[in-house]
Amino acid sequence: MTSQQRHDFYGPIHKGLRLGSSRLLMALGQIETRDARAIAELIGQLRIHLQLAEEHLQHEDAEYNEPLRGRAPNLAAQLADDHHHHYVTFRELDGLIHALETADEASRAAVGRALYLRFSTYFGDDLAHMAREEQEALPAFHRHFSDQELMDMESRIIQSISPERLTQYYFIMLPGMNPAERATFLRYIRANAPPEAYSHILDDVARAALPPEQFRVLNEDLAYVA
Ligand SMILES: [Fe+2]
Repeated sequence: MTSQQRHDFYGPIHKGLRLGSSRLLMALGQIETRDARAIAELIGQLRIHLQLAEEHLQHEDAEYNEPLRGRAPNLAAQLADDHHHHYVTFRELDGLIHALETADEASRAAVGRALYLRFSTYFGDDLAHMAREEQEALPAFHRHFSDQELMDMESRIIQSISPERLTQYYFIMLPGMNPAERATFLRYIRANAPPEAYSHILDDVARAALPPEQFRVLNEDLAYVA
């Protein structure tokens, strides 16, 4: 983070979730419903993504929205309402995913369409919700908390996540960012996390998750001192 810019704990993860949901929406629209193996693979990816999305809301509930209740109760109530709506949606999506998994060949196309449409409305709701957090909640956090407090909240979340899960988050977060954000993010990790974490994110995640040209640009950016 530069000194002019306040800490944004929503931006990187939300870009990742948008990227992951965009990819899955396209894949659900394009799925070959006669191919059981392709369906099983997509269902696996969908389940992991929805777990990441649901756990992300739980992290926000525990570390961000709870302290916000004391400072901006109306906004905190609105966010709680949005999250509750999402939790109900996740259970509906679980049911549709299970229905697709167990559907016979004759009904797969119809169940696949139902899942595609339900996922599309979930994604639409989530886009509106995440924009509300970034446009309304983030300024409220900036008014009521210091950057150090915001970074402490975020650190508690990161420390509560298993290394395997964190890697899954980074796999959508890094390609979701633009090059300048990616370099800023990696510099922040370099300055604040253990060296092994930094090299894991750069060498294992960024190298695999980014197109070669973007990985080259990232390394070039990181070679300059910010
Ligand atoms: Fe949220």
